[in-house]
Amino acid sequence: GITRHYHFDIRYQNVTRLCHSKSMVTVNGQFPGPRIVAREGDRLIIKVVNHVQNNISIHWHGIRQLQSGWADGPAYVTQCPIQTDQSYVYNYTIKGQRGTLFWHAHISWLRSTLYGPLIILPKKNDQYPFAKPHKEVLILFGEWFNADPEAIIAQALQTGGGPNVSDAYTINGLPGPLYNCSANDTFKLKVKPGKTYLLRLINAALNDELFFSIANHTLKVVEADAIYVKPFETNTIYIAPGQTTNVLLNTKSHYPNAAFLMTARPYAAGPGPFDNTTVAAILEYEIPPNTHHSASSLKKHPLFKPILPAFNDTSFATKFSNKLRSLASAQFPANVPKKIDKHFFFTVGIGTNPCQSNQTCQGLNGTMFVASMNNVSFTMPTTALLQSHFFGQNNGIYTTDFPSKPLNPFNYTGTPPNNTMVSNGTKVVVLPFNTSVELVMQDTSILGAESHPLHLHGFNFFVVGQGFGNYDSNKDPQKFNLVDPVERNTVGVPSGGWVAIRFLADNPGVWFMHCHLEVHTSWGLSMAWIVLDGKLPNQKLLPPPADLPKC
Ligand code: C2O
Repeated sequence: GITRHYHFDIRYQNVTRLCHSKSMVTVNGQFPGPRIVAREGDRLIIKVVNHVQNNISIHWHGIRQLQSGWADGPAYVTQCPIQTDQSYVYNYTIKGQRGTLFWHAHISWLRSTLYGPLIILPKKNDQYPFAKPHKEVLILFGEWFNADPEAIIAQALQTGGGPNVSDAYTINGLPGPLYNCSANDTFKLKVKPGKTYLLRLINAALNDELFFSIANHTLKVVEADAIYVKPFETNTIYIAPGQTTNVLLNTKSHYPNAAFLMTARPYAAGPGPFDNTTVAAILEYEIPPNTHHSASSLKKHPLFKPILPAFNDTSFATKFSNKLRSLASAQFPANVPKKIDKHFFFTVGIGTNPCQSNQTCQGLNGTMFVASMNNVSFTMPTTALLQSHFFGQNNGIYTTDFPSKPLNPFNYTGTPPNNTMVSNGTKVVVLPFNTSVELVMQDTSILGAESHPLHLHGFNFFVVGQGFGNYDSNKDPQKFNLVDPVERNTVGVPSGGWVAIRFLADNPGVWFMHCHLEVHTSWGLSMAWIVLDGKLPNQKLLPPPADLPKC
């Protein structure tokens, strides 16, 4: 591999969408941010310089960071944030990974404007496991807020209520023609007939899982979270925040007399509040050569609109997720841990706490919203966990008693479980090197049922099972798929159900795990794993770089 250098200047930039202008935090003045392109085996050296008033930290979502946990990026987990006028160099090698990932800010809600693609191409002489596409196209989903997202979450945390939803979804930063005052801010994909396009879909939205579809075209799914999958065809993609999906689009064999909308809008199992609007982009066939059609007559052609599942179509979301399977081939094997050293059962959900001050809280029945795993709501420490761990100074920073099962009795019967009380803490689980882990996560949300896209840093995991209702530790494991389960870094804990994952703890460091709906992380739906060093030199976390930020 080679070494590739990038420079990220974090600075303010005026951006206008929906006729609202605002100064926002950007990388190099770009929104969405710059794309990083590398090959498997390359080293990336990315210097991030902070010119804004906010503290900054950048995460390379889905990169395993083998031995280089200092470059992972979640603020107060692997590093203190980069303060104003300071800089930090993220330095890591991409080992054994190729596909579509993304980078984003990992502090507060700054990833609403700080995100961009991270494309890892196969090694020079390696091929895709499908025919080489004519072209590759990025489709990044995001959210646009007219207001400052930092103010929105600060206000929500203070009042204990839910935050305001965004004003639009975006495709490549653009809301598209279905919003007021937005027709000029529409992403257009010009295509030729009879060709195959690889679309790299990235859900960088803050708070919504999405359905995506292109009118009158089918899509073939070939990769999820930078792991190849067995190809299958679908009209609609379901993609949660933190997930990436590659699809092949075959264009029609002739020039159609029309253009086609590509649209996305949310999947939300619970009653909301959520933004139920639709972002659209346009798939447009190029003007045929030697044609009498002028550009203006082509514009009059009908515009077809896709039909998306209803916002609460859990059945579609579940079926889609179940179709994803690893290639499990000789070249791309599925190394599912078969013998499990440690079993964990985590409840995952939104609950409420009593209102803490003498103010009125805006959560359910005058309470405060809070989110937890095993009834522990994660408290951000004041210094980075990885530093505390590496230098053996965890006293007063974190404790190692994260419960391996829920603290309160739990029985999910479809009505809100009565175990919503939580305690706050910075609790972690410590794993010896190479522990094989099985983790079952059970949704216990009280806000109707909600689905939670759980993201694990530092690893890919295999999704060996999922189901609805209470997880049954006797019966359900018999149905686990240990042959070709999908391997990924973010999985939806189904609304009113459970998901089982397996991974091998072969990466020393401190690894954050959290719901990728940003409001849930803000409410504490997270925890961290500490994986200890192994005996061999290549099984040890390397020492921190000299420029590691201080708190
Ligand atoms: Cu994409 Cu912890 O984040």
